[in-house]
Amino acid sequence: MPKTVYSALKPTGDLQLGNYIGALNNMVKLQEDYNCIYTVADMHSITVDCVPADLRKRTYDFMALFLAIGLDPEKSILFVQSHVPQHAELAWVLNCFTQYGEARRMTQFKEKSHKNPENVNLGLFAYPTLMAADILLYNADYVPIGKDQKQHLELARTVAERFNNRFSPTFTVPDGIFNKVGAKIQNLLDPTAKMGKTDDNANGVVFLLDDADTVMRKFRRAVTDSDNRIIVAPDKPGISNLITIYSVFSGISVAETEKKFEGVSYAEFKTQVGEAVVNRLAPVRQKYNELIADKAYLNKVMKEGAEKASYIASKTLSKVYRKVGFAQYK
Ligand code: TYM
Repeated sequence: MPKTVYSALKPTGDLQLGNYIGALNNMVKLQEDYNCIYTVADMHSITVDCVPADLRKRTYDFMALFLAIGLDPEKSILFVQSHVPQHAELAWVLNCFTQYGEARRMTQFKEKSHKNPENVNLGLFAYPTLMAADILLYNADYVPIGKDQKQHLELARTVAERFNNRFSPTFTVPDGIFNKVGAKIQNLLDPTAKMGKTDDNANGVVFLLDDADTVMRKFRRAVTDSDNRIIVAPDKPGISNLITIYSVFSGISVAETEKKFEGVSYAEFKTQVGEAVVNRLAPVRQKYNELIADKAYLNKVMKEGAEKASYIASKTLSKVYRKVGFAQYK
């Protein structure tokens, strides 16, 4: 039996280059050899303030982009989280096997509550147990994610092991799949900060649906360093980030990238990085435009994906309900 891969993206803000390099690119490759299950995690989105109409629109945008990038409903199960109620149901059970202190230590919870002190809701606090439920419902072996999700995955592993030890083996304990290169893409204008969908500094974020001119402008303005060597080095976060992006988009290694651009000016290098990205994203944008105009097709993909996911999820959930002692009348 091929192993199971699970991952999800949260439709808060628009998809950006970090999502592509850290997660989506691997998700596409993994479909060839694994049972892959991929989710638009809309229930995670409401842990921060969001406009309902925006969330609904973005959910379709994300599904269309999943497909445009090459996720294939014939090969993978693609669905929207809120369409499969078992996610919320398992999350409740897992909440009861997660300690307050463990949830309180989560870096993203601390950062988000610091950034937005007037909305530190319980959902934000319990975010990692919902994420654990996502993964554990499908007994995923592997979870392709960026570095920023590593701590959440570790909590999912801890909770799975705790549940298995308390009862009997129930959940597969999942492993993360992280890129050697590109597990954390930085903001082009502030290369010491992670590139994020909702960054204040949107000019330093390349969105997957940006047009060619916008992409080129953002790369031309990317912050680099004072000397002119194109090498990866800790004191060169800007140029290191651009080398990483080039390497992923052109398919050549970091070392080869450094060699190829030896002696080339920063201005010329930035143009070439921009072009590599534009070449990959142009067909994605075109495909996205076709798909987003076809709501009936997107609805069909969502419905069929939810049915397949529900089938697997309900089996795991009924096992869990039995183990914790919930009476089952049939
Ligand atoms: P989200 O939606 O913030 O990000 C989606 C994926 O993109 C990765 N990523 C990055 N990778 C490299 N560099 C960056 N700058 C960068 N920014 C984002 C993230 O690590 C992630 O893999 N909680 C998750 C969604 C989620 C999930 C799950 C993931 C919900 N349930 C279950 C895996 C398994 C999130 O908010 O990711």
